[in-house]
Amino acid sequence: MRAAVLAGTATATSLLYRRLNPPPAERTEGEKLATATNAPKEEALNNGYAVSDALTPMEAITNYNNFYEFDTSKSGVAYAAKGFVTRPWAVAVAGLVNKPRVFDLDELLKFQLEERIYRLRCVEGWSMVIPWIGFPLQKLLEQVEPTSTARYVAFQTLLDPQRMPNQRTGVLDWPYVEGLRLDEAMHPLTILATGLYGETLPPQDGAPIRLVVPWKYGFKSIKSVVKITLVADEPPTTWNLQAPDEYGFYSNVNPNVPHPRWSQATERRIGEYGRRDTLLFNGYGEQVAHMYQGMDLVKNF
Ligand code: MTE
Repeated sequence: MRAAVLAGTATATSLLYRRLNPPPAERTEGEKLATATNAPKEEALNNGYAVSDALTPMEAITNYNNFYEFDTSKSGVAYAAKGFVTRPWAVAVAGLVNKPRVFDLDELLKFQLEERIYRLRCVEGWSMVIPWIGFPLQKLLEQVEPTSTARYVAFQTLLDPQRMPNQRTGVLDWPYVEGLRLDEAMHPLTILATGLYGETLPPQDGAPIRLVVPWKYGFKSIKSVVKITLVADEPPTTWNLQAPDEYGFYSNVNPNVPHPRWSQATERRIGEYGRRDTLLFNGYGEQVAHMYQGMDLVKNF
């Protein structure tokens, strides 16, 4: 992604200091989350709810992060997000719906939680395999009843520079926003995650609730969501606003469509040596390719 714009020499010095003196590996103990239902292994592998690839260790998942609201350095996010307060928390679901509603965190945790073992492919060319805990976004959208005019879903991260200190800088336009087409949002692989490795989400991974869309580049999987709005037109998205030629609205993982500044044909799986081939739709083509039939994937990158 684009290099961070350093606001002044003080910031630059502290960033340099942190790079020279990386903070220790951070891990905040989460609460245990019970999963009610998990599909049997064979079925889970067939419908994309699990992959047979080795899991990325917890330590890597929680210490190699992109979360610009806290820090633009991957190794600095865990430290900067330590102690992020996520209670009380509410997600407002509104827009083109019959039953707009604000869900508080306890209500969200009452949705039947499942484990989903997904590949996460960052647009930067690295990937992980993460055992998320969460529930299909579809279940939440059904409760608010989208109207027939709703065609897209817009998502927004918390805006609170007190609690998300890097929002005091202009490195991105805040709040971070993302969007999906309604059929993508309703797809059973699209989840709202509230945990990983059987515990509540650590702050650095998007506590207390984040989107996970496994066939799209990681930046679509917006963290620490507070607002979900059903809309008629394609909503603005943060990285597309930042660099429209580099990050499209769809951002489906595609080894055949290079980023203007690097190839997307291969990726570095965190914890592995060498690189592996990147899979079309991140390996979820069987489940999702039908949604893009007839679409020019180069134009709609
Ligand atoms: N969501 C917000 N609000 N802010 C961010 O900076 N980074 C995105 C995405 N969601 C980001 C975000 C990017 S680029 C990636 S690759 C994933 O989160 C990384 O998720 P992880 O740190 O849990 O691996």
